[in-house]
Amino acid sequence: MTEAADTGAYAGTQAERSVPRSRSLSAKLLLLTVAFVLFAEVLFFLPSIASFRMRWLEERLATAAAVATILVQGDPTTLSRSAQNDVLAAIGAKAIAVRDGGVSRLLVVADMPPEVDEHIEISKASVLSSMPAAIDTLLFGGNRMLRVYGPVGESAKEFELVIPDYRLHRAMLVNARYIVFVSLLISLCTAALVYAAIDRIMIKPIRAMTRSMLTFSDAPDSPAGVIVPEARSDEIGLAERELAAMQTHLQRMLSEQKHLADLGLAVSKINHDMRNILASAQLMSDRLRMVKDPAVQAFAPKLLRTLDRAVAYSENVLSYGRAQELPPARRRLRLAQLVDDVHGLLGLEPESGIEFNNAVSSDFEIDADPDQLFRVLTNLCRNAVQAMAGVADSSIVNRLTVYAEREGSVSRILVADTGPGLPQKARENLFAAFRGSARSGGTGLGLAIAQELVRAHGGTLELIESSGGRTVFAVAIPDQPVRLDEARHGMRRPA
Ligand SMILES: Nc1ncnc2c1ncn2[C@@H]1O[C@H](COP(=O)(O)OP(=O)(O)OP(=O)(O)O)[C@@H](O)[C@H]1O
Ligand SMILES: [Mg+2]
Repeated sequence: MTEAADTGAYAGTQAERSVPRSRSLSAKLLLLTVAFVLFAEVLFFLPSIASFRMRWLEERLATAAAVATILVQGDPTTLSRSAQNDVLAAIGAKAIAVRDGGVSRLLVVADMPPEVDEHIEISKASVLSSMPAAIDTLLFGGNRMLRVYGPVGESAKEFELVIPDYRLHRAMLVNARYIVFVSLLISLCTAALVYAAIDRIMIKPIRAMTRSMLTFSDAPDSPAGVIVPEARSDEIGLAERELAAMQTHLQRMLSEQKHLADLGLAVSKINHDMRNILASAQLMSDRLRMVKDPAVQAFAPKLLRTLDRAVAYSENVLSYGRAQELPPARRRLRLAQLVDDVHGLLGLEPESGIEFNNAVSSDFEIDADPDQLFRVLTNLCRNAVQAMAGVADSSIVNRLTVYAEREGSVSRILVADTGPGLPQKARENLFAAFRGSARSGGTGLGLAIAQELVRAHGGTLELIESSGGRTVFAVAIPDQPVRLDEARHGMRRPA
């Protein structure tokens, strides 16, 4: 199994972890650019088609005005029918009229005077207001009759023209097709250019960063996985530099961790064998007691004590090196009895001058793992005894008291001694493994292990007070939570 599969953090193969083309940033970007440019072109299309229609009508009205001005000079009533028809056919209109000083004169008209569908006052029509009419002509026009009127140029006269819209409709269709074609061309060119630019400036570097992250997560210790940042001063450049710095930092940390782990493994192996060797040395030295030589008698106990210490040291380091303590197997315990056992283990000789006071009431019960709580209390009591044993003055009271109290569902065990209090170094590194020891021969693991065990019970280990003459550690352990449904049905173990 690979490391990736082990951790579960980097699940999936390279292919599974890459983005399919259709969902890639580039594809999204291309679609969005085309959509936005097309939208802009539609916005441009409406006014341009409306203005085309206005211009077309204005031109027709201007031509009609020119014809009308000439006709007005003579007598238009003398124009023959065929001449009238020729004039109208040239302009493509059905009637031309002029209005001067409130009097309207029909100058030329087709055989059948047409019925008008729409009236357009050219001077009042703006591009915006004629947009709906332009769309209407484009979509449904071709067989309507329009009446267009208004002044032309500087003339004071108003001219009027009745004209069918089929030519206008055709011209507008041709123009609209042209605009659509040009719009599409522009949108495609713009989309392609924007796409190419953004792909080069952003997407490619992002892809390179993603590739680098994947390669790095697959083989964090390989220098090939570290990204080489480009020399750019924008946000992408910053992100690349930060990523490169983070990967380099991680790589250095990983290699340090690996060294430490290797070292730890080697130390554990050495320690394990050393403990066995020391144990045999302990056995052999035991025999030294039997040698009557006074010199041997003088150093044998010291040698034994030193060996004891060395064995205890090895055992502590080994037990701390174990990955984790087992979860507590909780039982209901009579605490006073457990404290008595701790007392027994301490092996306090009467001549040590240390008084042990088990002040736990005999009916005090606690919900905890017996072995683990025993180890916690042994560590605390042994520390207290070791601190008080250093005091040579027989007038000083050396008393270790263990008592307990209950607050609701939390049991609190207090271990108090009348020793000298914690040295500064121990206080600064309280509960920190290997660093807290302030006595020769100490490993600095006792309090760290005790705290770990108490925490596994959901509890706390605290130094309540420490001054010359009074040091108190408090272990607070809450009872196990009771499942409500079990409690309701009376399934709880009788307490
Ligand atoms: N009751 C106490 N009175 C005075 N000093 C204490 C007391 N309890 C702990 N200390 C100080 O705290 C230090 C750390 O204690 P801890 O039990 O963690 O390590 P240790 O006793 O030095 O070594 P180990 O318990 O691993 O053999 C001790 O070295 C001691 O100086
Ligand atoms: Mg200790």
